[in-house]
Amino acid sequence: CAPHRKAITGLLTPRNSATQRRRPMKFRRKIYMVGGALTPFIGKMHPDFIWKKHPDFGTRENPTLEETLSAAIQKALADTNVDADAIEKGFIGNFAGELFSNQGHLGAMAVRADEKLNGKPFTRVEGACASGGLAAIGAIDALNAGYDVVMAAGAEVQTTVSAREGAGFLARASHWEEEREIDDFTFPAMFARRAKFYKEKFGVTDEDIAHVTVKAYANANKNPLAHMREVTMTLENASAASDRNPAFLRNPELKEHLKVSDCSQVSNGGAAVILASEDGLKKLGIDPSDCVEILGYAHTTSPLGRVNDYTVLDNTELAAKQLYEETGLRPSDIDVAEVHDCFAVTELLMYEALGFAEPGKGAELARSGATAIDGDIPVNTGGGLIAYGHPVGATGVKQLLEIYRQMKGQCGDYQMPNAPTVGLTANMGGDDRTTVVMALKNV
Ligand code: CAA
Repeated sequence: CAPHRKAITGLLTPRNSATQRRRPMKFRRKIYMVGGALTPFIGKMHPDFIWKKHPDFGTRENPTLEETLSAAIQKALADTNVDADAIEKGFIGNFAGELFSNQGHLGAMAVRADEKLNGKPFTRVEGACASGGLAAIGAIDALNAGYDVVMAAGAEVQTTVSAREGAGFLARASHWEEEREIDDFTFPAMFARRAKFYKEKFGVTDEDIAHVTVKAYANANKNPLAHMREVTMTLENASAASDRNPAFLRNPELKEHLKVSDCSQVSNGGAAVILASEDGLKKLGIDPSDCVEILGYAHTTSPLGRVNDYTVLDNTELAAKQLYEETGLRPSDIDVAEVHDCFAVTELLMYEALGFAEPGKGAELARSGATAIDGDIPVNTGGGLIAYGHPVGATGVKQLLEIYRQMKGQCGDYQMPNAPTVGLTANMGGDDRTTVVMALKNV
């Protein structure tokens, strides 16, 4: 470890009262990720996104939810060279297809992607922005139960309505009756509240938090699949509200704590991965050395609307503790991480919940450069939710694939200098109410 990381990191003691109630998820078999694929993540400010200022506006449409999901599934099959007939089961992460696209029942939608999938058991799973992570653990559970080759995919199309109307759809991931009224932009306001308390408690500044944003855009600028691949971000722009970067909340107590640049994107996109047991790899004729092993996962949920301390992601912290216990890993073993940076402050809270930094020291870790691509613990190497984009149902699946791609040296201009051996993902739903964390190892 570099000296600065040694000073900041350490295993944390969980503060979540549910600690003792966990039932460990022990893997019964070795489980591998064979590979997968992503669609580009697109939305406003992406050159291919069709909106009123695009030259093709009126003549060309953005891909629909079905087209996005199908494209991810078809590309995953093609890129891994796996025949669709070998897929025994599938899980599809999607949060709000009914609201954004008038479309539910996405298991049955997914099998339209390839004739050979017809008749196979495909199911949609939903846990807000953790839906993709839940699809992946659905696949892992199925493999542990005896299936040998299973697909996990996720997709979301969110640009069918304005950002304000979409914020109302996303607010279904909060406790609607108790939390919706905080602001039209419910989730941005909930995380502005976390930023307010975090800044006040630890003396953190907006500029400290802006380091997360600048890193996210710098990484996305090297990533051809990223929503914000052509948008640059300076520390000056990310540090303060301006005409270009408005503080857009109406809630008077929270408005000053969040700007557009702090937010994840309203993106469309899909991701799909193929997971297999050792027997599955044999059936597919794939050597384990071409795969990434899933070492373990933890999944925790906490009651909607009941956050004890806005400066802590205690549900994620509990999941991380379980994962470390079950895998024997420590935070200092992690070479790369994909974390749920739905807002810039969330990434700092994630560093702390995952044990990369002590409480209140997340900003110091970001400032030190340790989480940049060439740092000691690179985080969100492709741009994260802030700049790679956040098609919510796809995000958890994308995180896994990003770790796989870094491990296999497939990240092109944003490839880490040394391919990582151990990686971690943290996918979060709601205001830290559902979390899926997973540990992966290059074989
Ligand atoms: N000055 C003042 N206000 C301005 C302004 C300016 N110059 N420009 C815009 N605004 C205000 C306006 O009020 C505008 O709303 P209306 O047009 O409806 O009046 C509002 O800001 C938004 O402006 P835009 O529609 O132009 O915003 P945009 O399309 O550029 O989107 C964004 C920016 C609102 C930040 C959008 O990217 C966003 O909503 N991001 C967050 C997405 C999100 O919340 N995802 C979920 C994360 S939570 C999670 O992951 C967990 C879970 O389970 C949900």
